Amino acid sequence: MKSIVIIGTQFGDEGKGKVTDYFAEHADIIVRFQGGNNAGHTIIIDDNKFKLHIIPSGILRKDKKVVIGNGLVVDPKVLLEEIERIEKRGITADNLILSDRANLIMPYHKAMDALEEKLKGHYSAGTTMKGIGPCYSDKVARFGIRVSDLYNPRILKEKLSMVIPIKNKIFNTFDEEIEFDIDEIYHEYLGYGDMLEKYVGDVSVILSQAFDEGRSVLFEGAQGTHLDIDHGMYPYTTSSNTVAGGASIGSGIGPMMIKEVMGVVKAYTSRVGEGPFPTELNDESGEYIREKGKEFGTTTGRPRRCGWLDMVIVKYAFRMNSLTSLAITKLDVLSGLDEIKVCTAYEHGDKIFEHLPADIETLKESKPVYITFDGWKEQNWEHISGEGYRSLPKNMRTYIEYIEKETGVPAMLISLGPKRSDTLIK
Ligand code: GDP
Ligand code: IMO
Ligand code: MG
Repeated sequence: MKSIVIIGTQFGDEGKGKVTDYFAEHADIIVRFQGGNNAGHTIIIDDNKFKLHIIPSGILRKDKKVVIGNGLVVDPKVLLEEIERIEKRGITADNLILSDRANLIMPYHKAMDALEEKLKGHYSAGTTMKGIGPCYSDKVARFGIRVSDLYNPRILKEKLSMVIPIKNKIFNTFDEEIEFDIDEIYHEYLGYGDMLEKYVGDVSVILSQAFDEGRSVLFEGAQGTHLDIDHGMYPYTTSSNTVAGGASIGSGIGPMMIKEVMGVVKAYTSRVGEGPFPTELNDESGEYIREKGKEFGTTTGRPRRCGWLDMVIVKYAFRMNSLTSLAITKLDVLSGLDEIKVCTAYEHGDKIFEHLPADIETLKESKPVYITFDGWKEQNWEHISGEGYRSLPKNMRTYIEYIEKETGVPAMLISLGPKRSDTLIK
């Protein structure tokens, strides 16, 4: 494993954190390349549960370098709190590197997130309210404040003096009683700069040296393919490129450096926030999956919408990401059901769609075309994980092999529970 990107094939929360933690054992460096603290990655090792939002999941493996790439939007306060939280639990953040080119989430981004969500009406995506969209907007509009600005007080002051009056004017226009103070934010952020300075580095140079030395690099995706700003169900997406190509842009390496792409496929589908969800179940099957799968947001605690596996969206993810392998997660959650459905196409009027339509209204109105699989019974999954692939129930193997056949990609990792130990390599 010289360089692998792990991405979500659905709407996020596929179990990327768990899968990253599992493979991080064999990597030297683990890199996040997009998103921010909208992500929530839960990892369970024995009886210890860790929730990470901005620090790569590799932090839980000893002696690994973990990197926050230029493609992220970083809330420095949240990052410092997360460092403190893990260090209190005996995990050192000494090997953390923060890109000097990452953009910073500012207090006005969070306020703007709330205002924009309110103004958007039914176009609101139900964001995590962490300021992600407004921070990426400012990056693209070239209003952004970057990590390196924290070490050039003159530039920081100049940029804040330019941008804050503009933001205040916008808030005032919409009768928001919000007035951000240039000096206050300037001093607050210089303080964050002091505390973060020991982590800051040039990620592109560090990764290039690592490749020259033959080190293994694992790129940990956040969100999922269908939340991608270009390829997701726009505008019900996040604001970054969540697909594998984002790893190159968001860390400063050329695309030829990526050798493998693993797509994490949850055995069913979940979505948190607004937007089309053709296989959503608003009945007791959906409730069963939500309760059994503990489908409540890691970041916001919101109940996740649940539904059957949708191969239209998984196959789209195959195409977007050049997947070379799959990790299939949460198969244990489906146990106990007599029948399990899988969507193979969408029906809209007299049309059948085998590929995802771009039009958001067509997507919202599309009805899934299902095939049905026989279910499997509850088992001691931890025990079975240790026994290997052949010991899985026959119907579960049929389900896994169907996903492999439809995508044309082999499943490498099978996840049968939230713990590191509930995992098998096929
Ligand atoms: P991520 O955002 O893709 O990293 O996924 P999250 O961590 O937000 O959500 C996945 C949830 O499912 C977490 O609570 C994990 O602990 C849990 N999980 C991961 N894999 C499995 C699995 O195979 N079975 C079960 N039951 N839970 C899992
Ligand atoms: P992980 O990495 C699931 C969703 C939000 C909202 C939309 C835009 O844990 O898989 P944003 O705050 O990014 O502007 O919100 O995207 N969303 C996620 N859904 N998992 C995530 O991350 C998500 N990050 C953002 O719910 O619908
Ligand atoms: Mg998550």
